Amino acid sequence: MILPTINTRYVGQSFVYFPETDSTNDRAWAALPTSPVNGTCFAADYQTKGKGQRNNTWYSDSGQNILLSVLLYPTFLPVGRIFQLTKVAALAVLQTVQQFVPNGISCIKWPNDILLNNKKIAGILIENQFSGNTILASVFGIGINVNQKKFEVTASYSPTSLFLELNQEFDRSTILPVLFQNIEKWYDILQQNTSWLDREYLSYLLGFQEKRLFQNKSGIFEGFIIGVHSSGKLAIQIQNTVEYFDFKEVEFIL
Ligand code: BTN
Repeated sequence: MILPTINTRYVGQSFVYFPETDSTNDRAWAALPTSPVNGTCFAADYQTKGKGQRNNTWYSDSGQNILLSVLLYPTFLPVGRIFQLTKVAALAVLQTVQQFVPNGISCIKWPNDILLNNKKIAGILIENQFSGNTILASVFGIGINVNQKKFEVTASYSPTSLFLELNQEFDRSTILPVLFQNIEKWYDILQQNTSWLDREYLSYLLGFQEKRLFQNKSGIFEGFIIGVHSSGKLAIQIQNTVEYFDFKEVEFIL
């Protein structure tokens, strides 16, 4: 992949490319002892052990999609506010997709799946390293489906790609600078104006202030999403009580 000029201060300025690797997240962690600069990007054309959320595997055809991890050092952020990093990554990926598909309907499915026209176009896996109350390092693992034409449906909702939505192929190197700018923009905002970050995240959150169907271990229930707690738990009003659900405790029924 030939990288064009990157118009950022730090995100993507250092760029490590692998034609094939296990997982770009694992490459970022493996490089940590060499102290890569803040914002270093590890990208691949193909992953043999691409990692998804909930211990799933992230499959992606070779050379078709964006597969990368950005290493950041959010030592300024207390552990209790770690979910802010999810908001940064989700907004950055969402706005990147929107820039290429301005007429599409895109949203964030809590906590950080990016949907375009009700299908999953991108996934995010954030991993962190802590020391006490300090987040020493964070890896934003991002997969954006760009030119892939066929997917195995493994999730409860369909995957899609920019190609499938627009019938147009994209040069992935035109998307990267936009993605890096958006990550940098929201990571800067996190350090300056967190209420803007909070507002924007909620404004794109699928089902916010709507009645929805959910499933947990006890079955299917109806609830009203009233927000996201600072811990990242989804706050759902069920009849007259508000209950907070962790990522693994509840699933949307789309
Ligand atoms: C999800 O399950 O939605 C999260 C998928 C995250 C996939 C990306 S691809 C680049 C990076 N490296 C990985 O192994 N996973 C993330």
